[in-house]
Amino acid sequence: MSDAEPAPLVPAAMVEGVRTALADARLPVTDPAVVRGDGVFETVGVWAGRPFALADHLERLAGSLAAAHLPAVDTGLLAGEVEALLDGTTADAHLRIIVSASGRRLLLLDHPPRRPPLRRVILVPAPWIAPDSPIAGVKSLSYQPNMVALRAAQEAGADDALLHTADGIVLEGTTFGVCWVVDGRIEAPTLALGILDSISRRTLVALAGEQGMEITEGRFAVGRLLAADEVLAVSSLRPLAALERVGDRAVGGPVSPVRDLLGPALEAARRGTAVRRPEVAGSGRDQQ
Ligand SMILES: Cc1ncc(COP(=O)(O)O)c(C=O)c1O
Repeated sequence: MSDAEPAPLVPAAMVEGVRTALADARLPVTDPAVVRGDGVFETVGVWAGRPFALADHLERLAGSLAAAHLPAVDTGLLAGEVEALLDGTTADAHLRIIVSASGRRLLLLDHPPRRPPLRRVILVPAPWIAPDSPIAGVKSLSYQPNMVALRAAQEAGADDALLHTADGIVLEGTTFGVCWVVDGRIEAPTLALGILDSISRRTLVALAGEQGMEITEGRFAVGRLLAADEVLAVSSLRPLAALERVGDRAVGGPVSPVRDLLGPALEAARRGTAVRRPEVAGSGRDQQ
């Protein structure tokens, strides 16, 4: 890989295979994605011009369509469109793939979202996430309950919301997955709870396994997370973050050794580079 500065990203879109500037991308106002939020999507991290784990995202998209009783999409066609859209891109970016219930395909390539590092969350019950929901684990366009939880968290002065069941079992964030560290072992909510099968969590679990760390998935009460040595949050568009507060409780310790170990490994996996350790490992909590 060259060390040359990446060219500035030019936001762009591809609608039904036709490339446009992002600002010119159009969808009919009568499309079910607009009218009912009916469709599915993926958000893919693009690191130095390359989409990370695109095949996994396309596979999850196909699963979302099937679970939502929507017609299958040609994932080979989508992969070709992604390649064409990213042609010439060397910068980091954010790629959104949307398939409406109408069958329309939209690819949106934009700058990575600018948002503050994830440090403080509040707890929000999420009855809409349930194992027997018809859209359990589906990355549905109907994200309003999660967005309402995010806004409520921001209004309460937090960065985001951590969702849990009515009986206090940890689920996931509004747009991120969570796991935590207890005595050097990682614990994570089971997918059987109806949460999204996070692709960055899968990568993290694989990287932790390479380090000889054990991972246990299950139904864990919020209290287990509150008492953990580190509480980690991750998504395809975010670096691995160590949370500092959950509600009015401080979580984790003054250092985050697992975040410091796996964060750079995740970054390297995404960029296809060698692992770069932080200059002073464990030197603070703001390396997000
Ligand atoms: C509800 C929810 N959980 C978890 C995640 C993390 O998933 P991934 O790692 O595939 O980005 C996301 C990502 O957007 C999400 O929206």
